[in-house]
Amino acid sequence: MDKKFYITTPIYYPSANFHIGHCYSTIIADSIARYKRLDGYDTFFLTGSDEHGQKIEKKAQEAGITPKEYVDKIVENAKDLWEQLDISYDRFIRTTDADHVKCVQEIFKKLYDKKDIYKGEYQGLYCTPCESFWTETQLVDGKCPDCGREVQLVKEEAYFLKLSNYQKQLEKFIEEHPDFIQPESRKNEMLNNFIRPGLEDLCVSRTSFKWGIPVTFDPNHVVYVWIDALSNYLTALGYCSNDTRMMEKYWPADLHIVGKEIVRFHTIVWPIMLMALDLPLPKKVFGHGWLIIDGGKISKSLGNYKDPREYIAKYGRDAVRYYVLREIPFGNDGNFSEEALVSRINSDLANIWGNLVNRTVGMANKYFDGKITNKGVIQEIDMPLLKELDELKINTDKLIDELQISKVLELIFDVLRLCNKYIDETTPWALAKDENQLERLETVLYNILEAIRITNILLRPFMPTSTEKVIATIHSDKNEFSDSHFLNDLTYIVDKTPSPLFERIQ
Ligand code: MSP
Repeated sequence: MDKKFYITTPIYYPSANFHIGHCYSTIIADSIARYKRLDGYDTFFLTGSDEHGQKIEKKAQEAGITPKEYVDKIVENAKDLWEQLDISYDRFIRTTDADHVKCVQEIFKKLYDKKDIYKGEYQGLYCTPCESFWTETQLVDGKCPDCGREVQLVKEEAYFLKLSNYQKQLEKFIEEHPDFIQPESRKNEMLNNFIRPGLEDLCVSRTSFKWGIPVTFDPNHVVYVWIDALSNYLTALGYCSNDTRMMEKYWPADLHIVGKEIVRFHTIVWPIMLMALDLPLPKKVFGHGWLIIDGGKISKSLGNYKDPREYIAKYGRDAVRYYVLREIPFGNDGNFSEEALVSRINSDLANIWGNLVNRTVGMANKYFDGKITNKGVIQEIDMPLLKELDELKINTDKLIDELQISKVLELIFDVLRLCNKYIDETTPWALAKDENQLERLETVLYNILEAIRITNILLRPFMPTSTEKVIATIHSDKNEFSDSHFLNDLTYIVDKTPSPLFERIQ
């Protein structure tokens, strides 16, 4: 069977320029996509922007421009940000793209024809910034439970999606697919707080504003922005086009990466839409935690953040990537601060990784004029390191499948730390003083270069730029995942004067 992997980020609202929180989702997805590609999977990585809705219409009005002009600017800015972060998406889908618009209209019509969508009247509470409907009981202190802002009472003729029809089927699916919602705690939350108490039909059209995809057979209505947005995962595969190859190859999605606040849409509304369309459900939805600042969510509407480009310019893209991936444990929130970023750069990137590469290259130059081959003089003391290297890829594969991204980095950096310890224990500088120990010395340096090469291969998905630098410094041509085990017969010719991988920051 062909190995394929379809991974998505949420498509973000271009209501303001993206912040480090959006970078987080996108960097995780990019790292996993890169990992799978290097691991031989035919990978499709989708990201994009969710451009319709009342909030964007209002923002554009305030700015005195059309909604399309408004989002165009922000999307351009976002694409530049993704380029600066080296995000390797295969498509950036915009919900204003013609193929998406047409496909959402077809999906809506299909569900209407099947009677899964019907016309009724909506009266309810709406949070415009979150584009979410709430019931009285879901409010917290009378306000939106997600963002804490005022909700408005809206009353209008509307179409509804029959969530209630699919409740049992969804419950059964979630119970039978324990991996579908990750982490486990979010699965329980969805089942106990939302699904089991009973699903109310969802209002899926609006008439009170215009900035949306018109319902073809009732053009006073625009499609509810979440129905529009979720469909992107299908429309990007050409679901409504005549060319079915992408759908056949990539659907169902292997992994939807989403923030914890939108797990609800991805594990209730989305699966029900798919069931109604007779399509298989995605394999996994991962609801990650938030990057928080001083205990609160970083948010466009709170305005408590800097342009991520400032950090990239100051510390480099890989430092930013490493920091957000390392700092947030599986599914939990993680604090974002520039101080902690600097401290990670110093403690991990400069002191452990950079230092190891520098020391090793320095010794290879000093003792062997930069050329190292394997002399095979192995001793007992080498075993722990060689064993770690042997098992490393198996362990990172497992952690990636469990979405323990922070742990993957921790594990690889443990091996780098072990290398530094290995140098201290094998004392190359002492071996160098003894004519009879030169073959042993060269073996030690070979082992360390192998460790640098193997860890570097596995770090490539996370830090694409710095790992290229290491490859150039040790002149390795064995850098594929299939080479990520100890090779006996390489010749290393290292750079004479390598520039440091990461500078310590004062
Ligand atoms: N447009 C919807 C998603 C539709 S997907 C079919 C949306 N957009 S959003 O602009 O509000 O972005 C939400 C996503 O951005 C979150 O789910 C999360 O992935 C990411 N983040 C936004 N702020 C974040 C943090 N402070 N920390 C981590 N991620 C956060 O919801």
